Amino acid sequence: MKRPFAAVVGTGRGVPEKVLANADFAAMGIETTHEWIFERTGIVERRICADGETTASMAVEAARSAMERAGVHAGEIDALILSTATPDRLLPATAVDVQAALGAKRAAAFDLSAACSGWLYGMTVAEGMILAGTVETALVIGAEKMSAITDWTDRSTCVLFGDGAGAAVLRRSKAGKGILSAFMRSDGELADLLYRPEGGATVPMSADVLERRSHLVKMAGREVFKHAVRSMSEAADRALDGARLTGEDLDLMIPHQANVRIIEATAKHANVPMEKVYVNVDRFGNTSSASIPIAIDEAIESGRIKDGSTVLLVAFGAGFTWASMVIRF
Ligand code: ACO
Repeated sequence: MKRPFAAVVGTGRGVPEKVLANADFAAMGIETTHEWIFERTGIVERRICADGETTASMAVEAARSAMERAGVHAGEIDALILSTATPDRLLPATAVDVQAALGAKRAAAFDLSAACSGWLYGMTVAEGMILAGTVETALVIGAEKMSAITDWTDRSTCVLFGDGAGAAVLRRSKAGKGILSAFMRSDGELADLLYRPEGGATVPMSADVLERRSHLVKMAGREVFKHAVRSMSEAADRALDGARLTGEDLDLMIPHQANVRIIEATAKHANVPMEKVYVNVDRFGNTSSASIPIAIDEAIESGRIKDGSTVLLVAFGAGFTWASMVIRF
């Protein structure tokens, strides 16, 4: 008897219209150039929320599109998992706002916090619930309004991030399609290399915190770079081993879109030529946990992921957290 799988039956994305190009930073008083940003990261432009656009509004757009493609209506969703580092409010979870907007009345809705790896963590949690028989249909969303936690006076970080959301509907399948393997790891000893130091429960938001700008993202870029390459390489190996595949068996690899140099190093390690690697960091920057589901949705739309395609997903983010997954579509 074939074992059951959790299969992706629909995907969607919701990204703001507003484009912020590298060349636009000068007019904002930020001392940088297109050449500096592009050479080090591969980023050309990113999307930024307009007034009124929120983590939830982007998540809802991505979710509606994923549900439509899956042919699933809101009442069928049993679990709604929203991965985000930028919740609209700290209480309750942004997932319940998304649930209310979708009318997903039967769903258990909760946020998941694992930074850029969060969507893969969410997919793994959803797979577990589906295979355990706890839920039949799960909606897993990655949605990030990074512009809200970016320090727009810090040129070393503000050029890196963008806003957006991506989503997938998962269902039980026996057709040999779905999640073939998954891997997750964390290392909290390295938390201070990429974090928001204050403004949480330990040092609540105050005029001093705002003044210090310590509620915004701080990053030790070089250290993060080194760990990202090492951990994403390990994660790629582990998901491929778990699926009993090698890089040569893949139709496509979709790494977290933080930096094209990290992507190239990871692909080289996994023995996947760049022609088989999906890259859109040039157009979106780093959208944290939204980056992989946005890329999957684009790849399906453009025909780079087809029925039967075998795809490796690899992520790394604050925590540190890292994760990977092989999916047969
Ligand atoms: N424009 C111009 N100059 C800049 C800018 C900028 N935007 N930012 C920094 N500089 C300057 C610095 O001040 C420094 O100047 P100095 O030598 O006079 O002091 C110089 O450029 C070099 O700075 P570095 O930080 O050493 O530059 P580096 O080559 O390491 O590149 C970068 C920085 C792009 C951030 C790189 O370290 C990197 O990509 N790190 C990984 C970051 C990342 O991808 N994080 C996200 C992954 S995890 C996640 O997604 C949550």
